[in-house]
Amino acid sequence: MHALTVIAREAEHLLPVYAQLDIEPVRAEGVWIHTADGRRILDFYGGHAVTALGYGHPRLIDTLAHQAATLMFQSNAVALDIRARAARRLAGFMPAGLSHVFFVNSGAEANENALRLALKATGRPRIVALEHGFHGRTAAAAAATWGADKWYGFPQRPFETVFVPRDDPAALRAAVDERTAAVILEPVQGVAGAYDLPLAVLRAAREACDAAGAWLISDEVQSGMGRSGMALAISRAGVTPDVATLAKSLGGGFPVGALVTRAGVAEGLQVGDLGTTFGGGPLACAIVETVLAVIEETDLLARIGTLERLIREHCQVGPVTAVQGAGLLLGLRTTRPARDINRELLARDIMAGGSADPHIVRLLPPYVLEEDHVLRLAAALEEISA
Ligand SMILES: Cc1ncc(COP(=O)(O)O)c(C=O)c1O
Repeated sequence: MHALTVIAREAEHLLPVYAQLDIEPVRAEGVWIHTADGRRILDFYGGHAVTALGYGHPRLIDTLAHQAATLMFQSNAVALDIRARAARRLAGFMPAGLSHVFFVNSGAEANENALRLALKATGRPRIVALEHGFHGRTAAAAAATWGADKWYGFPQRPFETVFVPRDDPAALRAAVDERTAAVILEPVQGVAGAYDLPLAVLRAAREACDAAGAWLISDEVQSGMGRSGMALAISRAGVTPDVATLAKSLGGGFPVGALVTRAGVAEGLQVGDLGTTFGGGPLACAIVETVLAVIEETDLLARIGTLERLIREHCQVGPVTAVQGAGLLLGLRTTRPARDINRELLARDIMAGGSADPHIVRLLPPYVLEEDHVLRLAAALEEISA
């Protein structure tokens, strides 16, 4: 079936809220997507930073099949060995000090709960967020999202948000005071175009939060789980947050999110303070355990560093004038609109992402990308006029 046909069929019964590409994926393996009309497309988009292990990873499929057959679901009304194992493994992957996990279903839900925890624990009314940051579509996550007015929709925000420039440590310090419950930031702003915050801004955020008794929430929904080359992108600045939020790569394609926080936060909580039906289900937890096992056992973080260097070295050609971001969350700055470059790449069987910045082509590929794939991208870019 041709892609236009399936787009039309979706429109019959789905709400019309997405701009969609003119391809119809029918299966995928590794970093390759196969379409209904027989094309094979190299995936630098990764399902929006989700398919960390690529498509059809045998260990992920085994885990899914085994766990589904053994115990597909139980709620948090009962304790489960697989949930304990997944949380232990995730805490072990995180920087020292982030030892306690709350599993949820998505990135927005992770941020929603992180913000709730900070507001409740501090009893303060205000969140400091960064211009151009994106934290999700739910009421609290969107209230801390830059430029959400266009689609926010709720009659009022649940708290006051102060937005500060993303490249100004002094402005950030000045905004954080005794009314601030938390600073929330993405160390590498994804939707904004893989913009890596200056390390001085990340350090200023930590220092300002420490001085004011506020929490630092690192939204690592896109940049976390090793995508930057480190478990958390904020660690690039030698900073540990009070809460890190995760989703996307955490499940390698299975929907799961989490927040990870300090032991002290756990001590301040009571039964009923947080809750979810699906969060921490056995299938999701089994997947998290396997994603982490594959990342660690196959040394994918080292590979991400190598691939980043290769992309920086080879892909500043054709319309690309600069590269920003970290690891495998990179933005290629383009002379012409990124939308046009992406269309020309897709015509050459390469899928990349756009962003809120009209001159950034965003790369968020699976971690199992190989050098040869980077060279293909570079060759395609070289063919495209500047
Ligand atoms: C940094 C960041 N935070 C939060 C979210 C929201 O995640 P979800 O779409 O899983 O709710 C996203 C989604 O793109 C994101 O990039």
